[in-house]
Amino acid sequence: MEKALNLLHDDLGRVEAQFGEYLESDVLLIRKVGEYVLASGGKRIRPLLLLLSARLAGYQGDRHIGLAAVIEFIHTATLLHDDVVDSAVLRRGAASANSVWGNEASVLVGDFLFAKSFSLMVRYGSLDILRVLADATTTIAEGEVQQLINTCDINLSEKNYMKVVRDKTAVLIAAACQCGGILGGCDEMQQRALSEFGLDLGVAFQFMDDILDYVADESEFGKAKGHDLAEGKMTLPLIYAVSRCSAEERAKVEEVIEKDELETGDLDFVVELIERTGGLEYTRERAASLVAHAIGYLDIFSQDMAKEALCELAEYVVSRRK
Ligand code: IPE
Ligand code: IPE
Ligand code: MG
Ligand code: MG
Ligand code: MG
Repeated sequence: MEKALNLLHDDLGRVEAQFGEYLESDVLLIRKVGEYVLASGGKRIRPLLLLLSARLAGYQGDRHIGLAAVIEFIHTATLLHDDVVDSAVLRRGAASANSVWGNEASVLVGDFLFAKSFSLMVRYGSLDILRVLADATTTIAEGEVQQLINTCDINLSEKNYMKVVRDKTAVLIAAACQCGGILGGCDEMQQRALSEFGLDLGVAFQFMDDILDYVADESEFGKAKGHDLAEGKMTLPLIYAVSRCSAEERAKVEEVIEKDELETGDLDFVVELIERTGGLEYTRERAASLVAHAIGYLDIFSQDMAKEALCELAEYVVSRRK
């Protein structure tokens, strides 16, 4: 990520400075919860992608700063809601907002961030940008609801899992890239290339998150290990393992994903199964080939520092440990 961070150091600083202003409200709890989550150190992948895409497209104005803040606000809103839905107690290495202030506050402050994002989009965006971000936000909600419906379904197909991943995660990443392009006056073909780049990258990003959920160093990842399994979420490493294991092992997995709480040995059993059947390797290879494919979409843009930084950021997605 170094190239992106060096290139965008000043811009990113300006984006961070906007967060406080956009969180202004007479309702103190909004500021408290908002600042708590935003200050807790996310990777800022989505704003970085928006800023880099705008630069790639040759954008010269000032609206990229506000829009990069908007994309992080939307992301933060989804995290506040997601941690309630997933009963997560850890986020970015600290207690999740829902475990500090409760589910109600998390849902409502998440709503504030969504609503605020739309006011800011009207201020800094265009009708095209508004369309892309409004569609993305709708799709995320669909993805999260579909994932809820899929909970504990050991028969979940790779195709249905892919649809959820695309909707809940990749579409926002694609929107970040496309909006940068729109700002810079990209034509339809260039916009589509940026969007497709973001879509492949976004799917790879979630694949890696799903791997890390099983094998990450918890203190580095900042989220609880084995949480997807505990919540009955069938992700690609496990979907693959279940398609390769014995009937007995499959029955055991089914029993585990349906449990309200994991017992000692459950996670170890599943991790061993996923490793033995090649589920982690398969998911990692799929992510790597998606990233390679994503980078191919940038061929139509001329080589410059922004493009180099975008490619490096794309590679980071598959090597990341947090
Ligand atoms: C977490 O996103 C949610 C997923 C889509 C996996 P990030 O991994 O980008 O979270 P932060 O913002 O860096 O904490
Ligand atoms: C990403 O999925 C969900 C969102 C789009 C917010 P996860 O539920 O796997 O994200 P983490 O692991 O909690 O960050
Ligand atoms: Mg979650
Ligand atoms: Mg989730
Ligand atoms: Mg996850």
